[in-house]
Amino acid sequence: MRESLNPLDSTFANDAKHQRPACEPENESGMLVERLNNSEADRCYEREKVLAWLDKNIPEKRLQHVLRVEEMAVKLALHHKLDAERAAQAGLMHDLAKCFQPKRLLQLASANGLEIDPVFAANPHLLHADVGAIVAKAEFGIHDVSVLEAIANHTLGSPGMSALSCVVFLADTLEPGRGDTPDLQTLREICWHDLHRAVWLTSEYTLKYLFESRHLIHPRALMTRNWAMQMAIAPRQTP
Ligand SMILES: [Fe+2]
Ligand SMILES: [Fe+2]
Repeated sequence: MRESLNPLDSTFANDAKHQRPACEPENESGMLVERLNNSEADRCYEREKVLAWLDKNIPEKRLQHVLRVEEMAVKLALHHKLDAERAAQAGLMHDLAKCFQPKRLLQLASANGLEIDPVFAANPHLLHADVGAIVAKAEFGIHDVSVLEAIANHTLGSPGMSALSCVVFLADTLEPGRGDTPDLQTLREICWHDLHRAVWLTSEYTLKYLFESRHLIHPRALMTRNWAMQMAIAPRQTP
């Protein structure tokens, strides 16, 4: 049975998730594309270094969101017996490319072999998650595939995504700063009990808003919803 969720109760949450925020001008220093092939990227993860980078590249309000996502991802990971350190890394780095200009997102995506489909071309901001993973690798030497995938999946999700990806996807939409509507409270509750059900219903929450506000919807967001719904329902259909 589906929970009743009003997509318009918290437009801020969805607005921030799928659309370009009002960010400060991006820092154009550093040619990321050139750095991607640099094998010296084998550095250890340093939280302070990431924080310093974020401080220069995203506004304070966005940084506070990132810290809340990190915190919620860690709590969810611990609760679901997942790797809390990986959850912390993915949470802290999930919005690295949030404030990149469309041209830069398209350039980095193309340079790294990401397919620019018509929805991405029309709304390059949707690429910020996938590009964020590219930045995490290039800037901070992150090579852990599960962390990179969790960063890449935080906006649109992906069918078959890992539990760690589910945790970061959920933390991004449900962190406390997103509001405190009954719908969000319900979704927050569910994510402690059933990650797939939470991804399914959180996807619907976002999709409803996108339909209502007549925004473009990326097919991957719909595929994630279908996958999560099947994952949540399938065990109950087994005799
Ligand atoms: Fe994001
Ligand atoms: Fe985010």
